[in-house]
Amino acid sequence: MKDVTLHNGVKMPVIALGLWKNLIPTSVHKSVKAAIDAGYTHFDSAQIYKNERFLKTGLKKAGVNREDVFITTKIYNSNQPDGKFQPSLEKSLKNLGTDYVELLLLHFPVTETRARAWELMEEAYEEGKAKAIGVSNYTIRHLEELLAACKVKPMVNQVELHVFLQQPELVEYCQKNDIVVEAYSPIAHGKGLDNLVLKEIAEKHGKSPAQIMIRWCIEIGTVPLPKSTHADRIQQNIDVFDFKLDKDDMAKIAELEEGLRTCWDPSDVE
Ligand SMILES: NC(=O)c1ccc[n+]([C@@H]2O[C@H](COP(=O)([O-])OP(=O)(O)OC[C@H]3O[C@@H](n4cnc5c(N)ncnc54)[C@H](OP(=O)(O)O)[C@@H]3O)[C@@H](O)[C@H]2O)c1
Repeated sequence: MKDVTLHNGVKMPVIALGLWKNLIPTSVHKSVKAAIDAGYTHFDSAQIYKNERFLKTGLKKAGVNREDVFITTKIYNSNQPDGKFQPSLEKSLKNLGTDYVELLLLHFPVTETRARAWELMEEAYEEGKAKAIGVSNYTIRHLEELLAACKVKPMVNQVELHVFLQQPELVEYCQKNDIVVEAYSPIAHGKGLDNLVLKEIAEKHGKSPAQIMIRWCIEIGTVPLPKSTHADRIQQNIDVFDFKLDKDDMAKIAELEEGLRTCWDPSDVE
C-alpha cells in the first residue's frame, strides 16, 4: 500500500477501510479480514461508530501485527470537554487493545469546546497516545482559528469529499498548510453510482463507477476512506492503482459538482 507522509513524518496509507455503520461484530470481523486479505492496512473508526472493540478482534482474528496497521479513532462531540476527553480516550485505547493510535481526530468543530479540546489533543500527542493528531469536518474558518492558536498543527482534516462535493478551496488551503485531507464518504455514501458520466468513464478504463470516484480522490491528493461490508467491494475499492484519470476525465468530473452533502454540514458552525 502506498503512503502519504504527514508533516511530523508519520506515514499514512493512502486508502483506509471506513467503518461507520458497520455495527455487528461478525460483520466487522469479516470486513477487516477481507480488507487485510486485499492489502488494506489502514482502518478508520470512531468512538461514535461503537465498533472499536470489534475492530480489535477483527485484526486479531486476521492474524495481523499491531505495528503493521494504521488505526484512526475520533473523539466524539460530547467527549470534548475537559474531564470527559481523557477517560473517553482511555476507553477507546482499551477497546482497541492498544496503548496508542496512529491517528486521533476531533470528530467535529463543536463551538463551545473545540479550543480546549485541541489542547487536550496536543497533550495526548505529547504523551504518545497518538502518533498523529488532526480534525474532522473543519472548514477553512475553523482551521484558521486553530492554526492561529495551536502549539501542534493538525496533520489531517477529514471531511466529506467526493465527485458531487469537491471542495477545491478547502483542499487547496489544507495542502498549502501541510494538512493532509482525508475524503470521507468518497462514494457519496453509495449515491450516484448510476451517474451516466461516471459510468462512461468507468467503461473507458474497465473499472466501476465506485473505483472512478475513489481514484478521483487520489488524483487530487486526498486519502479516501471507502466503507463496505462486502468482500468483493472491499477488494474492488483498493484496486485503483493500475490506471489514471486523464485531463478529459477530470474535466468531465469537475462538472459533476452539486454541493451534495450526505453527512454533517459544518459551514454554519460558528
Ligand atoms: N469524520 C466524519 O464525520 C465521517 C462522516 C462520514 C463518514 N466517515 C468515514 O468515511 C467512511 C466512508 O463513508 P460512508 O460510509 O459514508 O460512505 P462511502 O464509503 O462513500 O459509501 C459506502 C456505501 O457505498 C456502498 N459501496 C461501497 N463500495 C461499493 C462498491 N464498490 N460498489 C457499490 N457500492 C459500494 C456501501 O455498501 P456496502 O457496505 O453494502 O457494500 C455503502 O452503502 C465511513 O465509514 C467513515 O469511516 C467519517
